[in-house]
Amino acid sequence: MATGGGLVIFGAFRNKATIKMFNKRTKIKALLATEPQNQEVIVMGWVRSFRNNQFIALNDGSTNNNIQVVVELGLLDDATLKRITTGASLKVTGELIASLGKGQKVEIKAKHLEILGDSDAEKFPLQPKKHSLEFLREIAHLRFRTNTFGSVFRLRHSLAFAVHQFFNEKGFIYLHTPIITSSDAEGAGEMFRVTTLPFDNAPRNEDGSVNFKEDFFGKSTNLTVSGQLEGELGAMAFSEIYTFGPTFRAENSNTARHLAEFWMIEPEMAFHDIEDNQNLAEEFIQYLIRYAMEHNMEDLEFLDARLAEEEKQKPQNERAEFGLLEKLRFVVDNQFERITYTEAIQILLDSPHYKKKKFKYDVSWGIDMQSEHERYLVEKHFKKPVIVTGYPAAIKAFYMRLNDGCEPGRQTVAAMDILAPGIGEIVGGSQREERLDKLEKRMAEMHIPAAEMSWYLDTRRFGTVPHAGFGLGFERMVQFVTGMTNIRDVIAFARTPKNCEF
Ligand code: 4AD
Ligand code: MG
Repeated sequence: MATGGGLVIFGAFRNKATIKMFNKRTKIKALLATEPQNQEVIVMGWVRSFRNNQFIALNDGSTNNNIQVVVELGLLDDATLKRITTGASLKVTGELIASLGKGQKVEIKAKHLEILGDSDAEKFPLQPKKHSLEFLREIAHLRFRTNTFGSVFRLRHSLAFAVHQFFNEKGFIYLHTPIITSSDAEGAGEMFRVTTLPFDNAPRNEDGSVNFKEDFFGKSTNLTVSGQLEGELGAMAFSEIYTFGPTFRAENSNTARHLAEFWMIEPEMAFHDIEDNQNLAEEFIQYLIRYAMEHNMEDLEFLDARLAEEEKQKPQNERAEFGLLEKLRFVVDNQFERITYTEAIQILLDSPHYKKKKFKYDVSWGIDMQSEHERYLVEKHFKKPVIVTGYPAAIKAFYMRLNDGCEPGRQTVAAMDILAPGIGEIVGGSQREERLDKLEKRMAEMHIPAAEMSWYLDTRRFGTVPHAGFGLGFERMVQFVTGMTNIRDVIAFARTPKNCEF
């Protein structure tokens, strides 16, 4: 193996003129912003449409705007012309000229056209017309080639990039927490088991239970539901860390906001209390939206128009009050509402909605608010994102810090959920219980095996500090920014109950 230095020298000696290069193309997004001076350009992309045997709309995924390639009469024989069909891939060399047609500033006058890959027009499922999102979900392997999914996935990319930029600017350490784990971070038991044991002939203990000592890891393991617990270990050394990775939940919820495999961003901060936690989460969400507005306006405008079109199909009283861009601007320009759980319950109890018995699920102090309650608070009552704090301890995870001085029978924890219009819960977080005695007591009450969690408790034994963190569901954030109503449409290949295609 050459040393690093050797490799650099090798690179420097390579003569540019002798490098053979197939990819001398310019991306369509860049070409569309170039001043046309009859310069020769090369583009490669997929045909979106071909009109009059003359005008090709070509797309390479860099933008929704196609470049028009003009094929003059006589340039290509009939056989080649027939092969220019929707979905076919082309390499075109030609002159970049000012366009006389409407809708574009520049176009390419083709001098040479090569078909890289044919696409049988009879069989290609995407035609230049509107397809339903349900249909596109069935051909998710091809839907990236539509305008809607082009915009959604460029935005998803941008938001992921912005996540790293936000935390990097603040000096947080990106910690890769494990995917396979032996703990149930949330204690909710919604885990996918990881095993190499033969399931029809698993080794058994004397009492008949499965003997996991014989399994790959010598113990029972599962896919992680959250990187938080390991994140806390990192925060106890680096002060501030974040994780950003896939998480898995075997919840049998077939809804428009649940996935069995989703991506979560989990910052964890030493020396932060629940107020600091709320401030960071609010700043983070606003930063992501602002980033998208600064870098992806074209795609946001496309999705804004798409949503407006969709809204028109709905009856007047079901239409959203804001357009997509209007909503995003509102969220970055206004502070989130902050209320306690107790106040939230009171608002629900006082609401005309409750009095007219319009909630399916009953409301009383102690309930785990249902999505209908959360949506009432954000969409009808406050009409903006709301941070709810101080949830009943009984409905929250073992690691959340017990609030001091609660009314008898109303023990709360320093939890916070952020509820967003159209989405419901987008963030869940808390200040953590840093007091060893209190944490051990709570774990015992909730039947969390302390012996197996000794590594976690060590953080409380050696230099414990007040700390806090939260988890932002990345797909729910992408839904919020793109206005897509179904979570299956903001992840490349959705995993949901009874569905794991591609
Ligand atoms: O509220 P959750 O369960 O919180 C945690 O996992 C904590 N450990 C986070 C922390 O404090 N570090 O999940 C956090 C967020 C939710 O608010 C939601 O946005 C998203 O993750 N989420 C899901 N997204 C898609 N599909 C699912 N099944 C989801 N479950 C949670
Ligand atoms: Mg939650």
